Amino acid sequence: MTAKKVLAVGWSQTGQLDALLDSVLAPLEQSSQIVVTRVPLRPVEPFPFPWSFWRFFDTFPETVHEDPAPIDESALPEDGDYDLVILAWQVWFLSPAMPITAFLQSERGRRLVRGRRVMTLIGCRNMWLMAQETFKQRLRELDARLVDNVVLTDSSHSAATFISTPAWMLTGRRGPFLGGLVPAAGIEAGEIRAASRFGEAIARQLPERADDDDSPMLRGLGAVKINERLIASERIAHRSFRLWGALLRRVGRPGSPQRRLVLALYVVFLVTMIITVVPVTAIIKRLIAPLMRGRTARQRAYYAAPSGEAGEAGNNNT
Ligand SMILES: Cc1cc2nc3c(=O)[nH]c(=O)nc-3n(C[C@H](O)[C@H](O)[C@H](O)COP(=O)(O)O)c2cc1C
Repeated sequence: MTAKKVLAVGWSQTGQLDALLDSVLAPLEQSSQIVVTRVPLRPVEPFPFPWSFWRFFDTFPETVHEDPAPIDESALPEDGDYDLVILAWQVWFLSPAMPITAFLQSERGRRLVRGRRVMTLIGCRNMWLMAQETFKQRLRELDARLVDNVVLTDSSHSAATFISTPAWMLTGRRGPFLGGLVPAAGIEAGEIRAASRFGEAIARQLPERADDDDSPMLRGLGAVKINERLIASERIAHRSFRLWGALLRRVGRPGSPQRRLVLALYVVFLVTMIITVVPVTAIIKRLIAPLMRGRTARQRAYYAAPSGEAGEAGNNNT
């Protein structure tokens, strides 16, 4: 039997997503039936870390309107008939981060993904549903076949990560913050280690797979967790990001003084919205939960697809 070819593409600023990809890929790299090609994305101009306050927020209009800073395309393989392409990315402003968007827009990236079996691997704070919807649309446009989606998030309370994630991005320190009141930012090390179970399941199943079998390999393994209370907030915030992003792009180029002025207004609006809309929609959602049970269950199953949450039936992981 010829070895199956896996391409893994990713980029990480703090090393978090790299560690997650290491964990998932380790069992594949140990398999004699699988050959892994790992390609780190290289932004032409590196993104700053830690971020300055203005640069951080000024990145949002182009991120949500999928107009990314370019990556070095010459660092990508020209082609290759991969049996599985693993795309590892993080969420920026409820959208796929710029480097992976630049990859999907590049000529070589499109060639590598077009028509291929794809698995997405997301590491972020906790809001990824709308970003994955955008990503799914881009994959459909390339006739790519999304077979699995794994998402690891920060397991602390939303209110804590609302402080710790920006603090991490803007200072470069993970925390804990405020004398231990706010736990350290990021995905727990134990969860990253445990992500090797996804690699093990792929290493078991991929070599036996028929070329036209696009069923998920990771069902029943808890590939994603859906926080149903965030669904409405994500939808509202995503719409608002698109509107404000369009306005800011009309006002000026990134870094221009007039844009900074509107950006300052926007940041006030954003923080107000997060501390009002998110809890209020969560409370409303909780109050009307009994009436919405059927709809919520359908939404949950939709966003959890294709790999599903822990406890969802999985019959192909043997
Ligand atoms: C500009 C920017 C915007 C972000 N926006 C979000 C977001 O909307 N939702 C989310 O869950 N995480 C968000 N994050 C956190 C990232 O998804 C990710 O967890 C973090 O950047 C660490 O990833 P890395 O070090 O592997 O690159 C954002 C990070 C940055 C730098």
